[in-house]
Amino acid sequence: MDLIIKNGTIISPTETYIADIAVKDGKIIGIGKGFSEEEATVVDASGKLVLPGAIDVHTHLAMPFGGTVSADSYLAGTRAAACGGVTTVFDYPVQRSGMSILGLINEKKAICEEEACIDYAFHCCITDLNDGAILDEMEKAVEEGITSFKCFFVYKGMMVDDGTFTKLLLRAKEVGAMLNVHAESPAIIDLNIENFLKEGKTSPWYHYLSRPEYVEAEGDIRAVHWTKNLDASLYIVHMANKEGLEAAVEAKREGYDIYVETCPQYLEFTSEVYKREDGRNFVCSPPMKGQESQDALWHAIKTGGIDVVATDHCPFQSYEKDWGKDDFTKIPNGCAGVENLYPYMLSAANEGKITFNKAVELCSTNPAKIFGCSEKGSLTVGKDADIVIYDPEKEFTISVDNMHSDYDHTIWEGVHLKGYPTMTFSRGRLVYKDGAFVGEPGWGKFVKRIGRK
Ligand code: URP
Ligand code: ZN
Ligand code: ZN
Ligand code: ZN
Repeated sequence: MDLIIKNGTIISPTETYIADIAVKDGKIIGIGKGFSEEEATVVDASGKLVLPGAIDVHTHLAMPFGGTVSADSYLAGTRAAACGGVTTVFDYPVQRSGMSILGLINEKKAICEEEACIDYAFHCCITDLNDGAILDEMEKAVEEGITSFKCFFVYKGMMVDDGTFTKLLLRAKEVGAMLNVHAESPAIIDLNIENFLKEGKTSPWYHYLSRPEYVEAEGDIRAVHWTKNLDASLYIVHMANKEGLEAAVEAKREGYDIYVETCPQYLEFTSEVYKREDGRNFVCSPPMKGQESQDALWHAIKTGGIDVVATDHCPFQSYEKDWGKDDFTKIPNGCAGVENLYPYMLSAANEGKITFNKAVELCSTNPAKIFGCSEKGSLTVGKDADIVIYDPEKEFTISVDNMHSDYDHTIWEGVHLKGYPTMTFSRGRLVYKDGAFVGEPGWGKFVKRIGRK
């Protein structure tokens, strides 16, 4: 045995029980009692929770966006992830116009081989079908373990129209892939922005009002409509509004293969943040919404309408956010979160809002199942030893000073959490301990995923 984690309370999506976990060669090889401790590192987890590492299926590392590049490299982002109990990230490389998606993936893989501190996978963002060549490439990508793709309904230069969206839905179904979508309504956003700028309404509050609840809902409802009528599969990223959520949940209830993700920022903050002096730091798309939407998101988390919580980690530096001090349209869209996901959801569990089992299901087990990570997502014999030890008694206040990213501010500054991870193991190797990163760049491996057929 290489590692034995003793006496901890193990959390699965359905069970909570005390046992020891034995690890050899990066895999969980036993759960029970009485393992030989000879030559093993023994960790006493008495009084602690033992959880599968979180899988953050929504990050944007080193992504060219909003006139700059997101502030966390693959190294910094995966280092921060490890320190927040995340043991796998799914990044979103974006195809540049005319580019091969296999080429793009290979480019990113080469960077991650050097930099990634934990395991990684990619959903490939498709912006241009290249006269259909990309539809052919999708099949090859699935064979290589890239079993999900994404398209945007918004952002000039990246967005797809309904025709391309339906082609992608159908092709994804054919090749056994999942299609992810960023759903908002682009024409209405443009119209709103044009009107606000004419009227001199340029504060971050108008970022929210240019893309409020009904603007996101239209995108969701449209995406659900095509998915249902084509009998395809769909994963809606960063859901933040009640009306769109209800359309998706209704379709799920009818038996359609639709999944919904939300993010911690939508569960914690409302659109009121855009009235703050530092409102620009909270500018992301879709924006935080009103209380009614936030209540609906929590309700759906408790009742199964939301399948996954992931972060949309896409930080920018203060000076970049400042570009939009006098014009919200110049603020790069995106916020930090990869290090806050698991601690935030586990703190919600610790405070009784959800169960710990639910937090594990949303942050680890469901993402692994939906996206074909057969080796991950639970503490089970045979799976990767991606393990988090969590101290439910530890008090933690988030600050940019105790985070491990490269950004210089965080929307989470001052947020208080009850309980915090004390150790993270990536395939049996300790990568985080008591506030410090102890892993190494290049340790992370590409996660080759299984398609849906
Ligand atoms: O504002 C955001 N969310 N930025 C990252 C890109 C995206 O839409 O996910
Ligand atoms: Zn998005
Ligand atoms: Zn995103
Ligand atoms: Zn407290």
